[in-house]
Amino acid sequence: MVCLGNICRSPLAEGIMQQKINARSLNAETYSSGTSNYHISEPADPRTIAIARRHGVDITTHRVTQFKADDFDKYDMIFVMDNSNMKSVLRLARTESDYKKVRLIMSAISDRKSMEVPDPYYSDKEGFELVYNMLDEACEKIADELENL
Ligand code: 4NP
Repeated sequence: MVCLGNICRSPLAEGIMQQKINARSLNAETYSSGTSNYHISEPADPRTIAIARRHGVDITTHRVTQFKADDFDKYDMIFVMDNSNMKSVLRLARTESDYKKVRLIMSAISDRKSMEVPDPYYSDKEGFELVYNMLDEACEKIADELENL
């Protein structure tokens, strides 16, 4: 799960996805990072921690990392939140196989192939709730995909 800062969208996506993996006992693990180095080693944004907690997801142990080329070797699926993240991640792709791993997270839902998850950093509580709902829906579909692999 990749966003810009790794403090709002992607740690929330990671927490939601891990919860669904656990609930379905799937043989998978999830991780998140950011394309920027703005917040390296920091915890998630307090508003992200709060919205996650409200939905029973604990992301207090999260610490920011930056996406790097060898993450293509570690992960089978790379979900980005928006087109800007997509561009930054694809710039680091080395092979066709790396390239093919990267998808917009909302494209997991069949009628939302090009939808972006908005950056909630400058928004209010409603912005975080909207992002939570979008990610919850996308992660549910990803969990279905994993179950059917
Ligand atoms: P995120 O949100 O990419 O969802 O973690 C942002 C967090 C921080 C900044 C931008 C977006 N920033 O500019 O510091």
